[in-house]
Amino acid sequence: MAETIDRTRLITDLRYRFNYLSKFIDFNQDDITMLNKLEPIVSPNLPTIVETVYKKLYSYDITKEYFLMRHDGFENFSLDKEAGITLDSIQVDYRKDMLSVFIKHILTQNDWNDSFLEYLSRVGEIHTNRGGSASINVDYLHINALLCILENHFIDIIWNSDSLNFHDKRKALNALNKFFWIQNHFFTMQYGLSLKERQMSTVPTVNLSKCFFR
Ligand code: HEM
Repeated sequence: MAETIDRTRLITDLRYRFNYLSKFIDFNQDDITMLNKLEPIVSPNLPTIVETVYKKLYSYDITKEYFLMRHDGFENFSLDKEAGITLDSIQVDYRKDMLSVFIKHILTQNDWNDSFLEYLSRVGEIHTNRGGSASINVDYLHINALLCILENHFIDIIWNSDSLNFHDKRKALNALNKFFWIQNHFFTMQYGLSLKERQMSTVPTVNLSKCFFR
């Protein structure tokens, strides 16, 4: 018999929503333990990951421009170009740090309690102008692309690790993949992608005869 899921609670109750998603994709305490096991393997690679990620974001004007905007909290920051200190450099240093903190947090958290779920949700929210700086509203397209880049870094690290046996590598890749889909959901939720009706389409209508899963 199909399990009943309360649509309203899915929207209003973060824990209920997370529980449904994690049960659906079978994300459980074993996966969390596996993520924790990855911490000493991933941590030494953090500076490289963060540098590569920011290099990528700076290689396109459309993504670079988000870092040239003045973020909330940096209103009174005065520039000292001669010393090489610009709004851009100081904000980016701060954000680089926040990205390492985020990754560390994911890999060290062993109790995915309500405040941790709120943190994951907040990371999504801060990229929208509802939750972040009023001037910043990162297009979800870039978030999606960066999640892919980040996940690939993790895959390479796990794949090349000497301290995990074949069985654990598979478990680690599974846990990691589930985590990324969960974090992706915390982003899409904040962008309203899962809550609103379809708003616009640039794709011509195709009359598909039926959905395979119906
Ligand atoms: C894999 C996807 C991403 C992750 C995990 C991530 C993570 C984070 C974290 C942890 C913060 C700091 C939150 C805080 O201050 O507490 C942050 C802030 C920020 N991120 Fe990202 N980020 C992602 C993608 C992007 C992309 C693609 C861009 C731009 C193209 C971007 C631009 C920013 C900006 C501008 C802020 C500062 C927002 C503000 O202070 O209002 N992020 N991000």
